[in-house]
Amino acid sequence: MASAGRAPSIHNTQPWQWRLHDGVLDVRADRTRQLRVADRDGHSLLVSCGAAAQLTELALSAQGWAVETSLLPDPGDPDLLVRLRPVRRTDVDAGAKSRLAAALGRRSERRAFGPDAVSADIVERLRRAVTAPGLYVHFAVSANETLGLAVAISQADRWQRRDSDYMAEMAAWVRADDASPDGVPYSVIPQVPAAEPRHTDIPLRDFEVGVPGGQLITPDVDERPLIAVIFTDVDSELERLRAGQAMMRLMVQAELDGIASCPLSQSVDLLAFRTRLRTLMSWTGHPQMMLRLGQRPAAAAAPLTSRRSVGDVLTIA
Ligand SMILES: Cc1cc2nc3c(=O)[nH]c(=O)nc-3n(C[C@H](O)[C@H](O)[C@H](O)COP(=O)(O)O)c2cc1C
Repeated sequence: MASAGRAPSIHNTQPWQWRLHDGVLDVRADRTRQLRVADRDGHSLLVSCGAAAQLTELALSAQGWAVETSLLPDPGDPDLLVRLRPVRRTDVDAGAKSRLAAALGRRSERRAFGPDAVSADIVERLRRAVTAPGLYVHFAVSANETLGLAVAISQADRWQRRDSDYMAEMAAWVRADDASPDGVPYSVIPQVPAAEPRHTDIPLRDFEVGVPGGQLITPDVDERPLIAVIFTDVDSELERLRAGQAMMRLMVQAELDGIASCPLSQSVDLLAFRTRLRTLMSWTGHPQMMLRLGQRPAAAAAPLTSRRSVGDVLTIA
C-alpha cells in the first residue's frame, strides 16, 4: 500500500482510502479530501484515484498476483471507485518490477527541463502506454496549438487567481515542512524572482503563494516542454478514472525513458475550463488531463514529496 500511495494527486491531497475485505482490495474516494474550490466537480479526485488504482494493480502484479479489476462496480456506492480481486499467483514479471521501481522514483518536476526535445521513439512509447479503447493522448507540437493551450491555461490561471477562495485553498495545501504527510512542500516549488520571470511558452500553476519556493531555477532558460493531453471519447466518471490510470502509465513510461513529467491541470480542473479548452482547440474528444514532459534538469532532483502512512489510508475489515 505504501507503493500505491506514491500515486500523484492534486495538491498532494491523496483523496483515497483502501479497504481490504473478503479477498478483495477496494479503492474508495475520500471526499473529505476533495478540493472544494479547485476541484468542485470532483474531476481531479477521480483522476488522482485512477492513478492510485493503476499503481495498486502494478504493485500487486510486481508481487506476482494476477488481478481482476472492476471500475465503479457498485452503482449504489459511488465512493467505491475500483475493486481489485487477486485471482491467482503468477510468475513475477520483471517488467512489472521495473515499472514499479520507476513509479516509486518518479516526482512532479516543476523546474525548466533540459534543452533537448523528447525523441520520436520515446513519444511513440508514451503514446502506446496511454492508448486503450476510447482513450488516447495528443502531443501538442505545432506553434498554433501551443499558443492555443497557453491562452487557455492563462485564462484559467487568471480566473483562479482572482478567486480569493482558490488562493486560500492553495495556500492551505502548501507546507513549510518536508515531512508533512500531505500537501505540496516548499522544497519542490520553483523560486522565481519577480525581476527574472520564467521564459516559458506554457504557464505553470504557481504555488509560490506568499512562500519562497525551495527550487532555484536557472534564469533565462527558454522552456519548450512537450505537452501531452489525455483524451477520452466520452466524458463520464468512469472515463475520468480511466484517464487517471492512463496518466499513471504515461508517467511510469516517461520515468523508464529518463523523461521528467509534471501534471498541469489548471485548464482541465473545472468543467467550464474543459469546455472552453475543447471549443478553443476545436477538439472532438474530451480533454481530461494535461502534462508537461521533458529532459530532466541537470541540477540535483528535488526531494520526493511525502505521503500519509499506510495506517491512515488502509482499513482491513
Ligand atoms: C489531477 C492532478 C492535477 C495536478 N495538477 C497539478 C498542477 O496543475 N501543477 C503542478 O505543479 N502539479 C500538479 N499536480 C501534481 C501534484 O501536485 C503532485 O502529484 C503531488 O504534489 C505529489 O507530488 P509528486 O507527484 O512529486 O509525488 C497534479 C496532480 C494530479 C493527480
